[in-house]
Amino acid sequence: TTARLTVDPHFAVGRIDRRVFGGFVEHLGRHVYDGIYEPGHETADAEGFRSDVIDLVKELGVSTIRYPGGNFVSGFRWEDSVGPREARPRRLDLAWHSTETNEVGLHEFQGWLDKVGSDLMLAVNLGTRGTLEALDLLEYTNIAGGTALSQQRIDNGRTDAFGVKMWCLGNEMDGPWQLGHRSADDYGKIASQTAKAMRQLDPSVELVVCGSSSAHMPTFGEWERVVLTHAYDDVDYISCHAYYEERDGDLDSFLASAVDMDHFIDSVVATADHVKAVNGSSKSIDISFDEWNVWYIERFHGVDKIEGLDNWPVAPRLLEDVYSVADAVVFGNLMISLLKHADRVTSASLAQLVNVIAPIMTEPGGIAWRQTTFFPFSITSRLAQGEALELKLDAPTYSTKAYGEVPLVDAVATHDAETGRSAVFLVNRSQTEALTVTVDISGLGEVSVLESHTLSDDDVYAKNTLEQPERVAPHANESIAIDGGELTITLPPVSWTAVSLG
Ligand code: AHR
Repeated sequence: TTARLTVDPHFAVGRIDRRVFGGFVEHLGRHVYDGIYEPGHETADAEGFRSDVIDLVKELGVSTIRYPGGNFVSGFRWEDSVGPREARPRRLDLAWHSTETNEVGLHEFQGWLDKVGSDLMLAVNLGTRGTLEALDLLEYTNIAGGTALSQQRIDNGRTDAFGVKMWCLGNEMDGPWQLGHRSADDYGKIASQTAKAMRQLDPSVELVVCGSSSAHMPTFGEWERVVLTHAYDDVDYISCHAYYEERDGDLDSFLASAVDMDHFIDSVVATADHVKAVNGSSKSIDISFDEWNVWYIERFHGVDKIEGLDNWPVAPRLLEDVYSVADAVVFGNLMISLLKHADRVTSASLAQLVNVIAPIMTEPGGIAWRQTTFFPFSITSRLAQGEALELKLDAPTYSTKAYGEVPLVDAVATHDAETGRSAVFLVNRSQTEALTVTVDISGLGEVSVLESHTLSDDDVYAKNTLEQPERVAPHANESIAIDGGELTITLPPVSWTAVSLG
């Protein structure tokens, strides 16, 4: 079976914003404590951060990191997390039924970001708090000095302002599970007011208003329309969140999850552009896809659930999904979907980073290792440079229960005019057939293969675990050949591939 596609640098979709390779650190489970921070660990640095984890985060290639939640932020008082550590309160975290010790707070987290080389994206609490608290936090982070809260920051050990650019106006306010969940009308009003106030303080901030927690929420579409009707002029981005999992053994549908992500993005773009037309606005709203991943949510609703009035553990094991090869193929395909929409998806955050639905796992007092999903992220982040290209893709199809007839192959290409390098990212969704893809690369001139990586395995459910941390890794694809402006490559069943050309 064969598929064809054409890579031509003349057909650019849009410039790839490095922010699409963002991550997300929530105070949840063992993400912060026993994840990035473990003072007793043999690799811990002077601040208590694990340097083995820092090295893996750097290798992953994460740009902006969203913090501190997630559902957590809707019950969070930011003041708890600054000042002398011994005076910081222990608080109930209602979202995850845990105790937050506040041992790691804003200053410590910024210190960690400096070590990994990523930028901070902060979420304000619009669930149980409002505009004033958002302004207080912004004053604390972005005003150089001479006011009560900027002085407090200086007294707490940081002379320079944090200078935080990206801000989320709350989290998943459309979700009934969210503390302070609101109707689209109510949220749209508070988001607009808060955004206006924040810009009055610092006009340079970039603001993300909450879109839908999934394209399958009952309010999807209407939520975006109503919220943007209130806040269109006040914000720069609307968020999308999406998690995918294999349900009822239907691997065929699961492998096509990116079809749903494509549709989600197209629908939100259409809705935002509708409000633009109604408003007669000349500005466009972009998408911040600030939570995306494979997540076996069903499991959380069963085994992981913590309950009890006197049971609020510190850093419990929560959402510690172990990812398979098939999960990584879907994951790589989700990245392809984000890149295909580079014109409008200009920010995204993989949810999450360490231990909690994460590409990086740690064992307390033990090793840190790469999950299968680590590879598509690190390789895409490194190779996808410049502009995303529109491909003429001609591929055979297969039928899925969830999405009907869909292509067996999905792909995107990128081209960097500065370095002359291009990259092609592909998936084969077939469970049974290897697929040969013919790529017309005549538009690229004389190029050769610089590197190639294919992730596949005879056992599509193979995983990396504490016992076998290197069971799964990508390999060079030996089938590639270039002949007269045409590249051919064979993609094994259930596989993700990246090829770099230059
Ligand atoms: O990433 C895990 C959770 O998923 C986040 O806290 C929340 O925003 C979403 O529902």
